[in-house]
Parts: sequence; C-alpha cells; structure tokens
Amino acid sequence: APGAQEFIPPQADTIDQLRAAAAGCRGCELYRDATQTVFGRGDESAQVVFVGEQPGDLEDQKGLPFVGPAGRVLRRAVDDANIPVSRTYITNAVKHFRFELRGRRRIHQTPDRVHITACRPWLVAEFARLRPEIVVVLGATAAKALLGPAFRVTRQRGELLPWPASAQHPEDFAQVPVDSAGRVTDAPAARLLATIHPSAVLRADNQEIAYDGLVADLRVAARALS
Ligand code: URA
Ligand code: SF4
Repeated sequence: APGAQEFIPPQADTIDQLRAAAAGCRGCELYRDATQTVFGRGDESAQVVFVGEQPGDLEDQKGLPFVGPAGRVLRRAVDDANIPVSRTYITNAVKHFRFELRGRRRIHQTPDRVHITACRPWLVAEFARLRPEIVVVLGATAAKALLGPAFRVTRQRGELLPWPASAQHPEDFAQVPVDSAGRVTDAPAARLLATIHPSAVLRADNQEIAYDGLVADLRVAARALS
C-alpha cells in the first residue's frame, strides 16, 4: 500500500481542502469496502484535538466521526471536564471503517499497523493545519499511531506528555518535519494526553467508574489550556 502521503495536496491550507482530498484517498485497501472517508470535524482553531480509532458502522454511513454511542459518551465527558466543546476538533487515526462481514452484519475490526501507518499522514496534516494546544489520544489504536507500539494507555493515561518529536523510534511516531539541526520546523507546539476510548466506558463492568476516570483524565487537559 502506498500510504496516504501522495494523496495530500501540498497546497491544501485548510481542513476543508484536506477533507476534499481525503475523499479520494486510496492509501491502503480500506477504501474499497467502506462507504466513504470519514474525516475530522470541528473548530479550525481548536485548542484540543481528540483522536479516536476509526469510524464505526454509523460513522461510515453518515460520513462523520463519533456520531454514535461512543460519541455521546465523549461529548458528555468533554463537557463534564470543562473543556470548551466549541474549541475542539475530533478525528480518527484511521479514516475508513474496517469491518468483517458476518451475514449482513458489518463487524468492527481493529485496524492493523499497516492501516495506522498508511493513514497517519492525514492526521499529521490535520495537526499541522490546526496547531492545537493539546492532542487527546483516545485508546490504544490512536496511542499506537502517535506514541508508538510500546506505549501503554493503562500505565500513562492522564499524563500531559511532550510532543514525541525526538523519540528514539521515529518510524513509530507521527512524522514531524525537522531541519538539518534536528529542530522541529512544522510541528504543532502541542502536548499529548492519552486516555481510554469512550467505547471502553460502554463495555466496562462498572460504567460509572470508567466514565469518572475518563473525565478525570480530560480535566488534566482542561487545566492545562491557556
Ligand atoms: N469510535 C471511534 O474511534 N471513532 C469514531 O468515529 C466512532 C467510534
Ligand atoms: Fe486512505 Fe486512511 Fe482510507 Fe487507508 S484508511 S484509504 S490511508 S484514508
């Protein structure tokens, strides 16, 4: 798979231009069976960008991220954490729905590393346009996309982390352009914070405890905003 990079027009300055280009992405095989590309949406001067895994069945049909039950949990948690919703943007690590057909049902399949890697240029392009203060990583797939395969959400959730531009395994991280001296030239001056995926709240034995944990993590982000 060629990856998304070649589908990104270098002159695309705005999120709308990126979204239009992403509609035609064939950077990995996931575009074939899915209905459409589900690009990010929200405030173009967002302070906080949320990164989920991939669109679900409903998102695939509507063409919008987080319009299902997980999205409801997330919006409530953002509100309870006192993050200004009007200053947020929400997207996914992988922008096409990956599923397996069982009869007529489309069963969610976690994206593989190849899909995450192929799709990451869109995420990096979104960050470069949005330049948020904080990127909130929701769950393991988004954490893999941005913090590498060794990162454990369970161990490091709720911590404000520096942008991983000088990581030891650059191929595992968001590719951030650096100059010959190794200085970041076009990175968001953002920090990262990882937390659980809102769908993990819905699957938890004790939903209230899981939800409170999500809100507590998001409050760390809220307190760090300018
Ligand atoms: N889960 C995600 O990770 N993203 C969506 O857009 C919807 C559900
Ligand atoms: Fe392109 Fe990402 Fe869709 Fe793959 S999942 S075709 S890289 S937009």
